[in-house]
Amino acid sequence: MSQRRAAIFLDRDGTMIDDVGVLKDPDGIILYPDTVEALKELQKDYLLFVITNQSAVADGLISLEDVDKVNHALDIMLQEQGVRIEEWYSCPHKTEDNCDCKKPKPAFVLKAAEDYGLDLKRSFVIGDHPHDVCTGQEYGVFGLYVLTGHGVKHLDELEKNKLMFHSLSDAVVWINSHPNNIFDLEKNIEDGAKAIQKGQLVAFPTETVYGLGADVFNPEAVEQIFIAKKRPKNNPFIVHISDEAQLNLLIDGTISNKAQRLIDKFWPGPLTLILPKSKNVPDIVTANNSTVGIRMPASRIALEFIKRAGTPIAAPSANSFNYVSPTAANHVRNSLDGAFSVIIDGGACNVGVESTVISLVDNRAKILRPGGISKEEIETVIGNVEISEGDAINKIESPGQFQVHYAPETPLEICERFPQEYIDDADVGFMLHEPPSVNYAGPIEILSDKGDPKEIAMNLYAALRRLDKKGLKLIVTSYFADESIGAAINNRLKKASSRRRV
Ligand code: TXA
Ligand code: MG
Repeated sequence: MSQRRAAIFLDRDGTMIDDVGVLKDPDGIILYPDTVEALKELQKDYLLFVITNQSAVADGLISLEDVDKVNHALDIMLQEQGVRIEEWYSCPHKTEDNCDCKKPKPAFVLKAAEDYGLDLKRSFVIGDHPHDVCTGQEYGVFGLYVLTGHGVKHLDELEKNKLMFHSLSDAVVWINSHPNNIFDLEKNIEDGAKAIQKGQLVAFPTETVYGLGADVFNPEAVEQIFIAKKRPKNNPFIVHISDEAQLNLLIDGTISNKAQRLIDKFWPGPLTLILPKSKNVPDIVTANNSTVGIRMPASRIALEFIKRAGTPIAAPSANSFNYVSPTAANHVRNSLDGAFSVIIDGGACNVGVESTVISLVDNRAKILRPGGISKEEIETVIGNVEISEGDAINKIESPGQFQVHYAPETPLEICERFPQEYIDDADVGFMLHEPPSVNYAGPIEILSDKGDPKEIAMNLYAALRRLDKKGLKLIVTSYFADESIGAAINNRLKKASSRRRV
């Protein structure tokens, strides 16, 4: 019995090639470095189509012939490298034109389905705009969002249930392990939940970073996490819940007024509360402390996983001790392969730095680790909070305060001034907050096109890992403005650079 083919519908600008604004001339085509390999991988199992919105035509800036010329040139480029696109569909209209073909309207998807006899329920659409990834969803097409192009800029408009990826090639890895799209994702979550119930370890996504989790009430399972991570036993784990009612199982006494106000405002989200622990919580989870760190993650997948597991999940970040935290499933596979029974691949994490850890013991609010929720945001809810950091040599209140932490293998230097002495050295990599004003001989990673702190946080660890794989002698970066999530970014940069000094 022959099965109907499934398709991948690709956006063009910002997904396959650089989004340069209005593209009139084929000479302006800049393919992303991973596009060809990613498409070659996809075409083994899928027919490929491109759907592009080109409203510049309606604006009179280019003609439909210009669009076709660019599409044709790109098609030839791809063909020469062994990639076959079945059809190129272009919408030349503006939203006000109320046409049938502008994404997210599914006209082109339906046309392709008709012309090629496609199975849309096993098909995918990939793009860097929220409209791209909704195109055809009512027919079962599954949208994957990429953070290239305008991906980060439009993140706030993205539907909560959409998966995002740092690049097209990361999206392809996901498709390969979830060929029946939503069904396989749900099965992936279910497999994770079952593994937890069997006392196994599961790597799972949260909005901050990936976690390596076990049933909090199973001390043998929790011990396996310490072994897998090579983590010292005096470093407690955060317990992840999916429902506030689970707090009763974990804490001693009642929730203070301050804690409740923080919960109401920031959960689910990147805030961990340190509260007096109930004796139900095994000592191994909390490193024999009388307190327990708890948070309710915001990620839909994390919440669903915890709910189906039927128990709170103890989990540190899913990296080996001292290495950079993982913000994509591939990061986990690369550093902890074999350590977990199941990995739930939920794409890239959209906050990108770990949760803020705040202690509320004795009703004194003290930030032990800056993170996804800023001190300023917390202070709008409960007034002044202290920050405990730095002088943690003798008494480590929170293991996030260990001096060497979150560090790449390659030495990282934080330059307070322009790094003139390194710009001609091809063995030095640069992590920049904004597009560069000079030419660097070595590789560069631009964390944000416009110096946006949220975008920098989201890209930080992925960029650091990419540079770390290049065998450089040094990575150079600089501090960011210390307000809002900048405080967490600077804290991580400082720790990542400390390998040099010890
Ligand atoms: O965003 C996050 O917090 C991620 C995701 C997976 O939830 N988790 C994470 O876990 O970063 P981990 O283990 O890498 O860092 C946990 C931090 C450590 O700095 C630890 O000291 C602190 O939370 N912590 C946990 N329990 C504590 C406790 N009882 N007292 C003081 N600090 C605690
Ligand atoms: Mg685009």
